[in-house]
Amino acid sequence: MTTSEWTRHLRPALAGLDVYDIEPVPVKARLAANELAEPWPMEVVQEVGKRVAQLELNRYPDTSGRKLRALLAQRHAVDPEAVVLGCGSDELIGFLLTALGGRPSEPSFIVVPTPTFQMYGHAARCRGIGVLEVPLTEELELDETLMHEALGVATGAALCFLARPNNPTSSLWDSAVIERLIAQHPATVFVLDEAYISYSPGATLWRQGLPDNVVYMSTLSKIGLAALRIGYLVAPPALRRPLNVVRNPYNVSATSQAIAELVLTKFDGVQKAMLTRSLAARQKLVGLLEKIPKAKVFPAHANFAVVRLDPAGEATRVAEALAQRGILVKDASAMPRLAGCLRVGVGTNAELDLLAKALVEVIPGYPAT
Ligand SMILES: Cc1ncc(COP(=O)(O)O)c(C=O)c1O
Repeated sequence: MTTSEWTRHLRPALAGLDVYDIEPVPVKARLAANELAEPWPMEVVQEVGKRVAQLELNRYPDTSGRKLRALLAQRHAVDPEAVVLGCGSDELIGFLLTALGGRPSEPSFIVVPTPTFQMYGHAARCRGIGVLEVPLTEELELDETLMHEALGVATGAALCFLARPNNPTSSLWDSAVIERLIAQHPATVFVLDEAYISYSPGATLWRQGLPDNVVYMSTLSKIGLAALRIGYLVAPPALRRPLNVVRNPYNVSATSQAIAELVLTKFDGVQKAMLTRSLAARQKLVGLLEKIPKAKVFPAHANFAVVRLDPAGEATRVAEALAQRGILVKDASAMPRLAGCLRVGVGTNAELDLLAKALVEVIPGYPAT
């Protein structure tokens, strides 16, 4: 096959990067996607239907989602101008990298602990931005010394992404370490990604007056609204304009804006109840995993738990055997620091009952009661 001449213009890094794509398959328990598994009650679904029916489909939505930004700003007691919406926080990660990663005279790099949410590194590499990965400790905590070293390489990192709680480890990193990193590297923008903070009540690092090198980021995806694809961030003053320059207008659909506004104003209580049920389900999940002979369950602070199986090869075998039974979990064993590990999402009660039954079949010595 001949190669078209234009291909020499492709960014070289793209050839080595994976396409994130998951074939939709019918499953009985979906425990690999870090969603809120609890379904919305019919009363809410009906109200959403009515709201969507009122939309003018021939019109563009608000360019930046003003109403929704105002709602989120109120929750954080900040100026609505500080809030930027994205098509998921995935898109916001892209805005941050585009805005902060491009000085031709000085190749930019970012620092990320590893393992962490893969889109940080992926989105940077797509843009030709370097990625310095700093391994977590064996206990899946931040390695403060190594983080300081990495952040200070050359003229310093442009950005550092810190997910707290972290995906895929479910760990909640020491806030004092994070505060010190932020204070000692004022020339780096730290993104505090609290996508899973609803699963660690009381642990948020959000406060008014965060240092001016901090972006606070979160998403509606983990609190029952993944289908909407809405992430948001609170930016320090000097970053607001640059982020809006790189953001496409109308980047959040009218449907998503309208549904989010409705749910956040009218169904806050329902949402809280769903999250409370999910927290109870997490305890049940941890209990199920702890019964696996010779397994180590790491502390779970997000809506999933990490378990290390023994011997290490077991993780892949068990993930495959569960998949054959229609139960999807994430085989994390190829990730740094997670040899032998599975990441298992907090499902509904019914999904966890299926998991319990399957574990008895799949794992020798798993107690039947
Ligand atoms: C830590 C973290 N941040 C952000 C995201 C992306 O969320 P969104 O659905 O808003 O793009 C994820 C998704 O899994 C995540 O794990």
